[in-house]
Amino acid sequence: MNRKKIEYLRFLADMGEIFIPIPNLQNEKRNTSTELSDMAEKRAFSAASLNKESAEKQDTISADKKKKLLDEFYHQIRDCTKCALSKTRHKFVFGAGNADADIMFIGEAPGGEEDLQGIPFVGRAGKLLDRILAAARLKRSEVYIANVLKCRPPKNRDPLPSEEEMCLPYLHRQIEIIQPKIICCLGRVAAHALLRTKANMSELRGQVHKYRNIPMIVTYHPAALLRSERFKKPTWEDFLFLLDELKKIKSR
Ligand code: URA
Repeated sequence: MNRKKIEYLRFLADMGEIFIPIPNLQNEKRNTSTELSDMAEKRAFSAASLNKESAEKQDTISADKKKKLLDEFYHQIRDCTKCALSKTRHKFVFGAGNADADIMFIGEAPGGEEDLQGIPFVGRAGKLLDRILAAARLKRSEVYIANVLKCRPPKNRDPLPSEEEMCLPYLHRQIEIIQPKIICCLGRVAAHALLRTKANMSELRGQVHKYRNIPMIVTYHPAALLRSERFKKPTWEDFLFLLDELKKIKSR
């Protein structure tokens, strides 16, 4: 069994899949265990390199300054009443994670649980995102997660164009402060909003886009994986692509 297949099976296991096809390892036992330990080593290496301190970064803003700027920005906008969603929200969901993150994930809008807690991706889709991150050996505390909209649309309907227009400047400013090395759009809504395109997911995936000169990739929203199994494999491929691109960027 080749490395890619093993990695995918590990991804499924990490994501809590219970029924994983068991391959016939009769003739492959030795290779497989070697491959697995190689992979573990590589993963540990890549996790360590993703964790490198900001001292190695070439950002113009220090990690402390980014944290301070984000905090100030949150206090400036948290009582926003620019659109009608402010009337129905419980909490304003600003974003969460490392202000000095290399990777920034962008979702669509808070759902019910996020609205109650004021934290992005803490509901069912969020729990799945946590598993995907863990499978990719990424910690939530080392990435930054935000949404296109900061307030929950009633019944989780799609954001209205007018809501996106009003809310997007907040996300632009967050990206400007964090200066991630790469952005990963979770789903079509985020990709359309940031890339100003109407392209479909198959056109958007598998390539490096640019958002204001920051490399950006697009993958499926975790909610899509909850709806259909068939999105799991391509999502894992997108995460490998993301890690690979980040590695290239960091080695430049
Ligand atoms: N879906 C999103 O797009 N964002 C969240 O924060 C939660 C679910």
